[in-house]
Amino acid sequence: MLRHVKVSDPELYGLTEEELDRQEHNIEMIASESTVPPEIMELAGSIWTNKTLEGYPGARFQAGSEVADKLETLANERAMKLYHADHVNIQPYSGTTANYVVYASVLDPGDRVLAMRLDQGGHLSHGSKANWMSKQYDFDFYGVDLETGLIDYDAMEAKAKEFKPKLIIAGASSYPRLIDYKRVGEIAKEVGAYSMVDMAHVAGLVAAGVIESPIPYVDFVSSSTTKTMCSARSGMVFCKKEFAKKLDHGVFPGSLGSMHLTTMAAKCWSFKYAASDEFKAIMKQVLVNSKFMCGELKKHGFDLVCGTSDNHLIVVDLRSKGVTGRTMQTSLDKAGITVSKQQIPDDPASPMVTSGIRIGLTSITQRGLKEPEIVKIVDLIDRVAADPENEAVLAQVKKEANAIIADFPLYPAGTFDD
Ligand SMILES: Cc1ncc(COP(=O)(O)O)c(C=O)c1O
Repeated sequence: MLRHVKVSDPELYGLTEEELDRQEHNIEMIASESTVPPEIMELAGSIWTNKTLEGYPGARFQAGSEVADKLETLANERAMKLYHADHVNIQPYSGTTANYVVYASVLDPGDRVLAMRLDQGGHLSHGSKANWMSKQYDFDFYGVDLETGLIDYDAMEAKAKEFKPKLIIAGASSYPRLIDYKRVGEIAKEVGAYSMVDMAHVAGLVAAGVIESPIPYVDFVSSSTTKTMCSARSGMVFCKKEFAKKLDHGVFPGSLGSMHLTTMAAKCWSFKYAASDEFKAIMKQVLVNSKFMCGELKKHGFDLVCGTSDNHLIVVDLRSKGVTGRTMQTSLDKAGITVSKQQIPDDPASPMVTSGIRIGLTSITQRGLKEPEIVKIVDLIDRVAADPENEAVLAQVKKEANAIIADFPLYPAGTFDD
């Protein structure tokens, strides 16, 4: 790995080796993470980076763009086929950028937008006070029913009628259930708003056809291509044909500059791979593992937000265990298990402390872990929750966590041999 960097910058090479070692030996369960196939690393580090490219195939601002035109055209075709979409723009650099370009395409400064509350599962780029979008547009929010943890669509509808937004956004960072995209589209239509789903977290599950796609139901679908898509750090936006021109203009020249052809090439590869039986089987198993882990967590007395999971992530309410999300995140990390602290709906704790954790199943499923290993992992999580400050317990759990993961290499032997 990194043959040239090894010689020219041993310090940076050492850091990269250290990070590979961390990824190899930890049970990685950050819900937004996945492990990219080696092809993604090859393409993301390839000669495509040398080419500057603006515009669209056949209408570029730079000469020498014929081959790059073929790349973008192929990637677009593959993406539209994979997701059964009328139109796609794969120039956005990330999931966040994908959201921004939709706003740039259909909104004017000061326009109203209705989105999901950040502290109940939404994303920063959906109008959080901390995000600069909140200064550009007038955001209001819908949330979940505090009893069930499920999105309250009736309340969303009432809010939409009262607030009269120009855009309604669905899609979340930490919502473990399926979203009723049809209802979201209907509510938007009823109030004359554009509808948008941010499927960043579930794009791989959608591509594999193991959960429903939002694409038939709403005007725009934005996404990142990491997370369950298991591809390069990048983004994409789908839309209905009637909005294609608006979207493309919103992307370039509306808001972005030259595109990243390295990640575009990597996404192109992924759009083919995601149609394979291998990828579909992984996504299917992600759902099996997630549901199974919910059952194991409940057996150990953990409460789950929304009661269970229908996707790749689980949100655990830790209050009954008397431990905060921050403590669990830190203690599990010391014990070789990586999760993120997570606010639960109506969380009494601050966002820095939190009362929950979010667990993602994608990475460990890619490595081949199944039910027998999940039984062991939940037992380890339970032992840490029972005694999170006990260094001896954490050291023992780390030993056992390392032993579980050791049988499932991150990459096959020889992947990084020169
Ligand atoms: C719903 C949602 N949208 C967008 C993003 C941002 O994606 P990216 O990190 O690719 O910008 C995230 C990240 O976690 C997310 O959860």
